[in-house]
Amino acid sequence: MTNLDFEKIVDTSDEWITTRTGIKERHIASDTMTTADMSVEACKRAMDMAKCRKEDIDLVICGTVTPDYRLPSNACMIQKELGLTNALAFDVVAACTGFINGLVIANSYISTGLYKKALVIGAEKLSAIANYKDRTTCVLFGDGAGAVVVEPSANERGIVSSFMKSDGRLWQLLWMEVGGIKNPYTPEFPYDGSDKIFMNGAEVFKVAVKEMAKAVENVLEKANVSPSDIALFVPHQANLRIIDALAKRLKISPERVFKNIEKYGNTSAASVPIALDEANREGRIKPGDYVVVVAFGGGLIWGSALIKW
Ligand code: ACO
Repeated sequence: MTNLDFEKIVDTSDEWITTRTGIKERHIASDTMTTADMSVEACKRAMDMAKCRKEDIDLVICGTVTPDYRLPSNACMIQKELGLTNALAFDVVAACTGFINGLVIANSYISTGLYKKALVIGAEKLSAIANYKDRTTCVLFGDGAGAVVVEPSANERGIVSSFMKSDGRLWQLLWMEVGGIKNPYTPEFPYDGSDKIFMNGAEVFKVAVKEMAKAVENVLEKANVSPSDIALFVPHQANLRIIDALAKRLKISPERVFKNIEKYGNTSAASVPIALDEANREGRIKPGDYVVVVAFGGGLIWGSALIKW
């Protein structure tokens, strides 16, 4: 779906969307394609690349706020579709940081020897919860999925340090009012958009830049690594201006910042794994490189990880 497509449904322009967000187009899943369907495709490709057998996967963690069902988890749907009968599967509800949160959990479980081989997925069908009458939000979001296989490493490669934090006091800056048990759907529900994403973009923007910068500084300091040592910075793709402001604040030069927001928009939990996969397949990450991922989302919640690839 291009910016020109949006010009036909809300009062907006390609020029506004491009200059304010960096987005040119986003992918919208068909009516019948679900978050679990996209996740399964991503997992198959990740398992192929990792030459991983399905019987070896013992942990499946899916970061999503758009699961196929409210019960059970999306991860259980993925487990069933892929026949991962030896695994524990569960979801992480952490908005745009869902993937990084899942990665940190998988790392902790694997480091302590509880599990050996994890699939960590970030997947969203945000088109299902975007308000296509609200020009301030609908132009931002896209659908997608990404996945990684995580396993123990015999050398020092892997997740070197991580940082996760949230501030629940800011929950109403980015939320969906209707549809949960507090404000359930009623027969009189007017479908006025209150069951779709609401975001106070300008306020979120300010917190996002400040806290993501601090999260990255935290993981670098813990590992005694300087910004100049980072081979590739892979931030959540929410807004080009946020990415550029972050990189500037952290003194990371533009050629070391991965951006694909122009093609996908903000895919929430899927954004970082999609970006990581593209960077990897394009040969922009080599074994031993330091890669930093960082994300920020509704909660508000944010997190970062330093990875030795
Ligand atoms: N087309 C044209 N005009 C628009 C549009 C649009 N699509 N959207 C908003 N405007 C108008 C507004 O109405 C406003 O007009 P006004 O001045 O007459 O009132 C003007 O543009 C400026 O609006 P702002 O909201 O101040 O625009 P801003 O520069 O802040 O950009 C944006 C908005 C892109 C949403 C930005 O604030 C942002 O990216 N915020 C952070 C988003 C984010 O990181 N979210 C976290 C992750 S998302 C998740 O967790 C699911």
